Amino acid sequence: MRPDQHNDSNEHSHDEASDQGKTTQGMSNRLTNYGDSAFSLFLRKAFIKGMGYTDDALSRPVIGIANTYSGYNACHGNVPGLVESVKRGVMLAGGLPVDFPTITLHESFAHPTSMYLRNLMALDTEEMIRAQPMDAVVLIGGCDKTVPAQLMAAASAGIPAIQVVTGPMLSGSHRGTRVGACTDCRRYWAAYRGKDIDDQEINEVNDKLVPTVGTCSVMGTASTMACLAETLGIMLPNSATAPAVYADRQRIAEQSGAQAVQLAHAGVTPQQILTPEAFENALRVLLALGGSTNALIHTTAIAGRLGIDIDLAAFDRMSQETPVLVDLKPSGEGYMEDLHRAGGLPTLLRELKPLLHLDAMTVNGRTLGENIDSAVHLIDQKIVRPRQAPIYAQGGIAVLRGNLAPAGAIIKQSAASPELMSHRGRAVVFHGLEDLAKRIDDPELDVNADDVLVLKNIGPKGAPGMPEAGYIPIPKKLAAQGVKDMVRISDGRMSGTAAGTIVLHVSPESAEGGPLGLVQDGDMIALDVARNALNLEVEELELDRRRQSNQMAADETPLLGYRRLFMEQILQAEEGCDFRACRPELSVRVPRQHEAQERG
Ligand code: FES
Repeated sequence: MRPDQHNDSNEHSHDEASDQGKTTQGMSNRLTNYGDSAFSLFLRKAFIKGMGYTDDALSRPVIGIANTYSGYNACHGNVPGLVESVKRGVMLAGGLPVDFPTITLHESFAHPTSMYLRNLMALDTEEMIRAQPMDAVVLIGGCDKTVPAQLMAAASAGIPAIQVVTGPMLSGSHRGTRVGACTDCRRYWAAYRGKDIDDQEINEVNDKLVPTVGTCSVMGTASTMACLAETLGIMLPNSATAPAVYADRQRIAEQSGAQAVQLAHAGVTPQQILTPEAFENALRVLLALGGSTNALIHTTAIAGRLGIDIDLAAFDRMSQETPVLVDLKPSGEGYMEDLHRAGGLPTLLRELKPLLHLDAMTVNGRTLGENIDSAVHLIDQKIVRPRQAPIYAQGGIAVLRGNLAPAGAIIKQSAASPELMSHRGRAVVFHGLEDLAKRIDDPELDVNADDVLVLKNIGPKGAPGMPEAGYIPIPKKLAAQGVKDMVRISDGRMSGTAAGTIVLHVSPESAEGGPLGLVQDGDMIALDVARNALNLEVEELELDRRRQSNQMAADETPLLGYRRLFMEQILQAEEGCDFRACRPELSVRVPRQHEAQERG
């Protein structure tokens, strides 16, 4: 059923809406269980009338709004205004908006790491959607883990849902150079470590990197997930890129509120939008964006909630036929506001049209193809390249396998150094984050520019929470000599805003007995991205010997609460790091059609 077939519902009076056969249940939905449903509704209405609602208001379709504002979350600093705009849209379409709080997560305000809490936010959001009366829900998210958590929740909760993102921050300026979070955060910090800039300048740039509220201004995880949500069709067309402080952003929120009412009437659920074809489209766009490696984990988690399995090998073959076309940092030069001015995501989708499933349905009741065709077509833009002149000839992410990563690892090849893509070097091993902090800048550390830095125990269980520590800093003494990049390998993640020759998500992780845990200083490691190979050049007999002597005494510290749930349930990277209990049996594998064939 197409939600736009119900566009006339605005004209219905609430009396008509309460006629027999109506598709919404409003306040009668999900009553508290007292054993007398009429009494439950009577009591519910008595309480909510305490906030001044009339029977007229309470007879409307109810649209829940997940409000993720927090004083700790600058990426969501515009949420109060967005909630008001969504409410306006809901009311204009004849619904009753009700906002409710959920957990919110900001990357820099989540210890030990926001990824540890993503599944908690997903559980919170899912259960609050299930528990409270609402015919549809508008999910307002933005910062890296929030959109994945909300989409995981929406996929599981199964009621009509529409995503709204907070939008990217604007870029700033430091001494005449354009800057933005957080590729430039890392660039300036590396320059400071290498003594290229002094204390005064690093403090100065600290004031300039985040000039407005909103999500990071480059193609990091937040921007990537916003673009993927639009591609998946769970967000309105051309709504991924509008900056947080633009009026466009408020209009998108208003339109999303109105559309949520149409979705409620039509009963269109996320299952009807988030299909295997939609996920194939999203993976294609992830590659063409040069998007964040984290997005692969999140997309896997969202798809997993619907029984859809992301096939890493097929994804890698898709990567070989999908060029990076978007010239945004960290793979290119621009910022999100540039992509917005260039026509937003539809400009990229138009370029990828022959490679997409154009008949995938979206929340506005039209297909992806119809949305692309009706978007403004800007000819004179430089941010999205034609497929004949890409930023990078292949997709942004390559999948690696070998005896060091039997279940896979990934590298963001579009942001790596070409000269290190095939490299053999001596391992310099760090056993965890503490060990790394203690020794990385030790002047006595035995390390050369040709070595391979290995960081163990930062996987899903190891740290725990798979922190974004895979961007191992270049040892200070090498940075001071001008070394800008080295091959770095870990079972952790890295920020989508980071760049370098960095192998991530090595699976199984060290803490699960993966071979990464067996690497010792001086071992030779061979990386060959063109051959998708990552190998530890140590005899199997020797690895077996190490495996035996590695058997550590089990940690007897009792685990309680969320930590216990996390350690018992967390899955590996290739399974999206979701909780085992939240994933139904997987029945479909995507991408299914990965050959270099253009769709007609
Ligand atoms: Fe929130 Fe980057 S820290 S998007």
